Amino acid sequence: MMERVRGRFIVLALTGSIAVYKMIELARRLVQAGATVQVVMSKGATEFVTPLTFQALTYRPVEVEMFAMQDERAAGHVAMGRQADVVVVAPATAHVLARLAHGFSDDLIATTVLATSAPVVVAPAMETHMWLNDATQANVRALRARGVRIVEPDTGPLASGEVGPGRLAAIERIASAIDDALAVSQTLAGRRVVVTAGPTIEAIDPVRFVSNRSSGKMGYAIAAAARDAGAEVTLITGPTALAAPAGVRTFPVESADDMKEAVLAQLPRADAVIMAAAIADYRPIERVTKKLKKKELGREMTVRMTENPDVLKAIVAARRPGTVVVGFKAETGDATAEASRMLRDKNLDLVVANDVADPRSGFGSDEDRVAFVSADGIEQLPLLAKSEVARRLVDKLAERLGQ
Ligand code: CTP
Repeated sequence: MMERVRGRFIVLALTGSIAVYKMIELARRLVQAGATVQVVMSKGATEFVTPLTFQALTYRPVEVEMFAMQDERAAGHVAMGRQADVVVVAPATAHVLARLAHGFSDDLIATTVLATSAPVVVAPAMETHMWLNDATQANVRALRARGVRIVEPDTGPLASGEVGPGRLAAIERIASAIDDALAVSQTLAGRRVVVTAGPTIEAIDPVRFVSNRSSGKMGYAIAAAARDAGAEVTLITGPTALAAPAGVRTFPVESADDMKEAVLAQLPRADAVIMAAAIADYRPIERVTKKLKKKELGREMTVRMTENPDVLKAIVAARRPGTVVVGFKAETGDATAEASRMLRDKNLDLVVANDVADPRSGFGSDEDRVAFVSADGIEQLPLLAKSEVARRLVDKLAERLGQ
């Protein structure tokens, strides 16, 4: 179950929960499986188990969080985050979830997580009401949306005497999450992947435009997942409220025309193009250069629109053989049937069908219920975090490119 940990550098960060004692067994197993394990303990964690225990098991000095970090030490721990193949925070208290969700950098654990570009696995453990609290759940969602792998707590008797969700996940589950995290590491190494994301906006005049509800979250998650899998990623994005993912070349565009031009410019170098952008189907025929005035328009306003170029069609026509092209189909009806038609009509390799009628799935949400539609058939996935959908899509892509 832990075949991928051999030879890898694993940072194991422990925070102040009674469940710290369970990490003795995890650390032991990781070391036995051939990993180098660097333990970092919060002060709270050391109240439950001594650093010496972990030091003896891992054959390495344990880093203990004692004081607010000075700059010099912070630099040292940036290095630890950079060196890690995976960073594991377990058990993670409600407090540490909040700190990680907000990107704090004033202690060893938070700085290591912030500085790393390796996968991060977080296994929360806390009292049931704290786990179920909206604040904690919002923090978990925020972390997940950024690609952090959350190992959900188990349900059972807790140290407080209550019974409910909040118990640290069984170490087998944490171990397999670590193994999975290491598995994705290099499946797209050496590949060039172009991802489009977000809406396009089509100008009516200098202040008004026509657009759609795309948040860009899916495309950004795909860009991050492809990066994590070792690809060289170019993200071509319409306007969104999201921060550009680290380690990804990002080109902001506005209109469908701009997007088409930017994608075609990247196409000759691309091994795969993933069209997650919600490109506006129509644009105003006229682009007025001066702001339209109400008194000139009168009581009604008509905007005549014309069809935008079909970017997917242009890509498929211009691609070199072997370039994998993935389309997206958002539907409020039968998404998979529409996706199958699109796969055939546009000669694509894969279509991701998304049911946007379900309010938990689709525009603006952090989760999606999608199906992968290809010549191999239809693979329906359950409702998953967008980061997880992105990882599975990257797996599919790696499979295709490997063929
Ligand atoms: N797309 C494109 N060029 C456009 C419009 C869309 O390349 N001008 C791409 C999108 O990036 C996405 C897919 O095509 O990958 C969506 O296809 P489309 O048929 O436009 O889907 P819907 O908008 O869902 O379909 P419709 O509006 O026809 O219901």
